[in-house]
Amino acid sequence: MSEASADIRAQVERLHQRINRHNYLYYVLDAPEITDAEYDQLMRRLEALEREHPEFVTADSPTQRVGAAPSEKFAAVRHRRAMLSLSNAMSADEMREFDQRVRRMLKLSGDVEYVTEVKFDGLAVELVYEDGALAVGSTRGDGINGEDVTANIRTIKSVPLRLMASSHGHLPSLLEVRGEVILPRKAFARLNEERTERGDPPFANPRNAAAGSLRQLDSRVTSRRPLDIFCHSPGVIEGADFATQWDFLQGIKALGLKVNPLSRLCRSVEMVFDYWRELSELRHELDYEADGIVAKVNSFALQERLGEVSRSPRWAVAYKFKAQQAHTRVKDISVSVGRTGSLTPVAELEPVHLAGVTISSASLHNLDETRRKDIRARDTVLLERAGDVIPYVVRVTQKAEPRGKQFKMPPRCPECGGAIAHEEGEVAYFCVNVNCPARVRESIRHLASKSCFDIEGLGDKLVAQLVEKGLVQELGDLYALKLEQLVELERMGELSAHNLLSNIERSRAVTLDRLINALGIRHVGEHTARQLALEFGGLDELRSADEARLRQVRDIGPEIARSIVAYFNEPRNRAALDRLLKYAVVKPLEAPAKTPAALRDKTFVLTGTLEGMTRAEAERRILDAGGKVTSSVSGKTDYVVAGSEPGSKLDRARNLGVAVLSESEFLRMIEGQSR
Ligand code: IVH
Repeated sequence: MSEASADIRAQVERLHQRINRHNYLYYVLDAPEITDAEYDQLMRRLEALEREHPEFVTADSPTQRVGAAPSEKFAAVRHRRAMLSLSNAMSADEMREFDQRVRRMLKLSGDVEYVTEVKFDGLAVELVYEDGALAVGSTRGDGINGEDVTANIRTIKSVPLRLMASSHGHLPSLLEVRGEVILPRKAFARLNEERTERGDPPFANPRNAAAGSLRQLDSRVTSRRPLDIFCHSPGVIEGADFATQWDFLQGIKALGLKVNPLSRLCRSVEMVFDYWRELSELRHELDYEADGIVAKVNSFALQERLGEVSRSPRWAVAYKFKAQQAHTRVKDISVSVGRTGSLTPVAELEPVHLAGVTISSASLHNLDETRRKDIRARDTVLLERAGDVIPYVVRVTQKAEPRGKQFKMPPRCPECGGAIAHEEGEVAYFCVNVNCPARVRESIRHLASKSCFDIEGLGDKLVAQLVEKGLVQELGDLYALKLEQLVELERMGELSAHNLLSNIERSRAVTLDRLINALGIRHVGEHTARQLALEFGGLDELRSADEARLRQVRDIGPEIARSIVAYFNEPRNRAALDRLLKYAVVKPLEAPAKTPAALRDKTFVLTGTLEGMTRAEAERRILDAGGKVTSSVSGKTDYVVAGSEPGSKLDRARNLGVAVLSESEFLRMIEGQSR
């Protein structure tokens, strides 16, 4: 190889390493050190180099996550070690019985040590790493044979294509890990929103969505679904030795695999109960679905002694949470009109309490879903809370007697009485009137929401009144509202009218991503709006982009590109936008705060006099960067910053082996250059 090409190869490899590290920080540790824009720049540099020098493109390059050609069908993969399933404990008694059985079989009189983990409601997969490289990714299948979904697994950003070597460079020659592929709730909600708008049947829950995404024959489709993974158990391992489940989890974490931070080592079954209680509460706040906890005997030697029975290990159990389901009666089925004009059937329910909230309606998504589940007025249905807090109707549990009529879409828009469009073979129904009050109302609500213009005090009822009274017919009208008009509204005093006007006024300064999100372009939500803002930097640049240009943007496929172009081609949209721009002041997008991970949650002690800054300033900069400052040195201190004439704290730091930084080292660290 010539010197020049050796140099290119070295450049490519350096980029691999940098990008892999930032992928790991972002997707596995959730602790990015650089902005999205900086990351994109690295990727583009690599892409450019690879375009010019295709001979240096390797299978584990970060650019090679998405394969090109869709496959015909999945090949079968035989698991070297069977993928078992878990037996369930449905109550505290059953959990206690499990623990007693374990101790009886092991002839132990004392406590057994367990590892407790979240039971993820996702899709079981196996990852096979050979000499550190991801060789195969497969589904569980029947536990013996699964499907080869390697191309799809590679698109999951938290799955390393190559393991990180430990400090002494060691990698196991064979490492099989099992884990759960999940679709985070937010992504699930977004995906279903897009699907219903497009007229595709929505997924019933995040688990089905994850399964559907992973079993796509075209990995380009999978790559657009932000799947994630939690690795939780071993298959066959060669060239590494783990004695316990806890060791295993720490070990694979060190190799760069994503493990769940909530796992815990429990010294007795009592601690398992504590964990279950804590998780039962916490589950609602998690960004993924969990249907219980898993308790596993920690020691692998003891696991082996316990063995398995009917395809379930005797050393582990799934201790389920109490179900989040309730039964209620459908009073009626109404039809709501969304901001794009789409009609959605909604079940009006007898109010029922479900997992901490009262639910009185649930979207039925579309006509096909409603018919498929055959939901009719006065039926009793089973409700479940899936993804986030959105309740959905699982099925009819008792048909009304006599039975109501089968649901039909209304012949005209229930809000404006206008015509409805429906294409043969499509599921979606639309009100075609762009001035339909329901569409206007929903667009204004959207514009006022937290992720757009964030107008405090402009609630749903008020928006409905403004539209009904004809005061607001398009987005820009909001900014032309007068005090005299507002005080005329119901329950609106002069003071609240004043406040509302000043909130509206304040909302005019908005970042580009929020403005784009506020336009309510089909398929463009918060995330895509952000990507577009980062890419184009200004509205004019976005407006003049054609489909080909748009498709160069990360995460933007043909459908989104088409929708954006169609939006800006519509003269009425252009006019409404121009009017809005008379008022809106578009600010450049703020890059996310760049917190050097070196400082996050680190504890500092300052001693002596600093030259370049005051003590207070140093403290503030540490706090701003996510660190903490304490006054005395202990084993928990991460760094002591020593200025001139340091006191006894420096001696104490040395005795305890705490890292000591000079002022210039500290400065470099704070400015993020020591990474
Ligand atoms: S351990 C034999 N740990 O639950 C050990 N499984 O019915 C089985 N699951 O197929 C795997 N969270 O896909 C384990 N923390 C966890 C899990 C978990 C979810 C799934 C797994 C398995 C199913 C068992």
